[in-house]
Amino acid sequence: MVGYPIYKDNREFIKGLEKFGELVTVKQEVDWDLEMGAIVRRVCEKKLPSPYFKKIKDYPGFEALGAPLATYKRLAISLGMDPASTVPQIADEYVRRTSGAPIDPVVVDKKNAPCKENILLGDDADLFKLPGPMVHDGDGGRYLCTWHFVVAKDPDSGMINWGMYRQMVFDEKTMVGPVLPFSDMGKMFHGKYVPRNKPMPFATVISCDPLSGVAACAPSPIPEDQFTGMLMGKPVEVVKCETCDLEVPAHAEIIIEGEVIPNLMIEEAPFGEYTGYRTSPREPRTVYRVKAITFRNNPIVTISNMGIPTDEGQLLRSFSLGLEMRKLLESQGIPITGVYMLPESTHHLVVVGVKPAYSGIATQIANLIYGSKLSPWFHMVIVVDQDTDIYSKDEVIHALSTKCHPITGIHKYENAPGTPLNPYASPEDRKWSRGAKVLFDCTFPLSWPKSDVPIKVSFNNVYPKDIQEKVLDNWANYGFKD
Ligand SMILES: Cc1cc2nc3c(=O)[nH]c(=O)nc-3n(C[C@H](O)[C@H](O)[C@H](O)COP(=O)(O)O)c2cc1C
Repeated sequence: MVGYPIYKDNREFIKGLEKFGELVTVKQEVDWDLEMGAIVRRVCEKKLPSPYFKKIKDYPGFEALGAPLATYKRLAISLGMDPASTVPQIADEYVRRTSGAPIDPVVVDKKNAPCKENILLGDDADLFKLPGPMVHDGDGGRYLCTWHFVVAKDPDSGMINWGMYRQMVFDEKTMVGPVLPFSDMGKMFHGKYVPRNKPMPFATVISCDPLSGVAACAPSPIPEDQFTGMLMGKPVEVVKCETCDLEVPAHAEIIIEGEVIPNLMIEEAPFGEYTGYRTSPREPRTVYRVKAITFRNNPIVTISNMGIPTDEGQLLRSFSLGLEMRKLLESQGIPITGVYMLPESTHHLVVVGVKPAYSGIATQIANLIYGSKLSPWFHMVIVVDQDTDIYSKDEVIHALSTKCHPITGIHKYENAPGTPLNPYASPEDRKWSRGAKVLFDCTFPLSWPKSDVPIKVSFNNVYPKDIQEKVLDNWANYGFKD
């Protein structure tokens, strides 16, 4: 299953996508003003191959890749797995790789770092030299950074964080965007730099190898430069920045260096969100002042287009949030059979499979995951027993609508942390990131006598094994194809 290549940069990944039929090369010129965004949006909604734009209006020499990881097939390719791998196979491989020892990055010389092929400093470091797209009509500006990550360092521990925090171009030298207080960079910036009134050095990395992006949006406690190494099975190559004491992936296409300014906010948004709605109003947000831009010859930018499912943020955040919950529940010895967060739920709904070994196990599961650092991002937990395939929407809907008691099976949690983006929340609740949570317990109570537990009427459950085998052996003879 494993044994396909691990890609060192986006250029190799693009070739990999092409090889496995996951790329459409768009040769005709496209406009950065809405046209590219509209194409990427339609690709996400129809689950089509990634568009690779060879010619961008006003930006000769630049190219763009849209929706780089918006399907499980592309995720499997990025991990060097068989593109036909199933979701459980990809999940098991991801958990295996990310449960070992962290792998430190290696620092390479600047002359071996393609991201240093062009260096713009001072007035030359002008953000309008880069083809930031107008992603959706109604957005507050051009979003240069939608599939990227921001590198920052804890001023006390030196711990590195890579995270995706969207950035809108405000002027030649300024980007602006939200940094939520419960994200790792939010805790670092609001908790350590702002109180000391100290600018925070940052480096935005646009378009590097696919696994660095997978790591940057994973909610793992492991620093993402090491986490990337674990996913790759070898160290990620990084290089020193030009203007600050940070390191960035050497094979990235574009690096923007500068400082995040404390105690200053500039208005940002509206923006079309991963929830599938425009829930970010124009408001004062975090300010990034630019000092340097470095880039490869003929750079390729990456574009994600958030909206209704499925974009790569929804897919990868669901995938990695669900798997961090799996690790947490397993570390506590809960007898789970698996965890699957549905990308179509815009990472709001997670299904946990469990062997109901004792009463109250569903509540214990919900309390654990709602009590973890992952909890602001989601609000629905469905717990099913081992008879339900957690990856089958049909089976989950059947369990929900037949096993969950409308009063005793639904547990509500008020006053819980949410995000400012929850479409269900009132404008006031959104302003304060106030959320609520719910558990749907789809396990039959253990206290019921065995003879009273309803028997599931399915092919696998109500026929003797010999009849099942006979029917399966003769299936094609009966005239059925599948
Ligand atoms: C495409 C994309 C855009 C995101 N934009 C933001 C953002 O603007 N602000 C934010 O606080 N978090 C944003 N997130 C979530 C963070 O990336 C996420 O919190 C972080 O990378 C990983 O979690 P951690 O901070 O808990 O480590 C975004 C995620 C994705 C996938």
